[in-house]
Amino acid sequence: MAEIVIVENREAAGELVAAEIARLIRARPDAVLGLATGSTPLPVYEALPAELAGVDVSQVRGFALDEYVGLDPDHPESYRSVIRREVIEPLGLDPSRVRVPDGSLPGIEHHGDDYDAAIAEAGGVDLQILGIGTDGHIGFNEPGSSFASRTRVKTLTRQTREDNARFFESIDEVPMHCITQGLGTILEARHLVLLAFGAGKADAVAGAVEGPVTSSLPGSAIQLHPHVTVVVDEAAASAL
Ligand code: GLP
Repeated sequence: MAEIVIVENREAAGELVAAEIARLIRARPDAVLGLATGSTPLPVYEALPAELAGVDVSQVRGFALDEYVGLDPDHPESYRSVIRREVIEPLGLDPSRVRVPDGSLPGIEHHGDDYDAAIAEAGGVDLQILGIGTDGHIGFNEPGSSFASRTRVKTLTRQTREDNARFFESIDEVPMHCITQGLGTILEARHLVLLAFGAGKADAVAGAVEGPVTSSLPGSAIQLHPHVTVVVDEAAASAL
């Protein structure tokens, strides 16, 4: 059973998770962080510089969950750009120690295996930050994704493209495909920290935490993990 923490607002969630990450890095300077994108983890990234003041982060490693396929890597909404802007630069991490799946490689169908191998070589992810989509996706593992899946190319659902259109000029600009860590990859992290805010996430959160464990709601895979913390505001907890 996941530990559920209900907080007053996003800022409180950000501070709580940032404090946990800072504790981890103090104990293990070469900690491996699993980084998520989307709007949900932003309060964590905003709270981290203060929590990490005076902490040596030069050995910290990071692996992002996912990336769009076919978007220019320098596009401001590519996850490579987002991770650089929101995480690497403000925290002063070594950019060579933070990886984002490459959505522009010609041999992209083989890239997933290399990415998973790089995570394993780093010793695995210590703490994986997760958001959840309104359809219950984690990373970009849309409904129907196998719990055993590894990092691979997937097609985005219409719902996710609509949800993410707010980051682009229009839905037509949102890529059709992505490369995402698989559910099996994500479940290998030692600690999963799932955050969700707002009433729009309430059903997905309830399904993930206490619904049937089913690939129709990929977030329910967290019920198979022994160490999960779910940090939600009242609205996102309202269907629990
Ligand atoms: C995006 C990301 C996910 C994220 C989810 C929710 O598509 N690939 O990692 O958790 O959708 O996004 P948001 O946090 O903006 O609600």
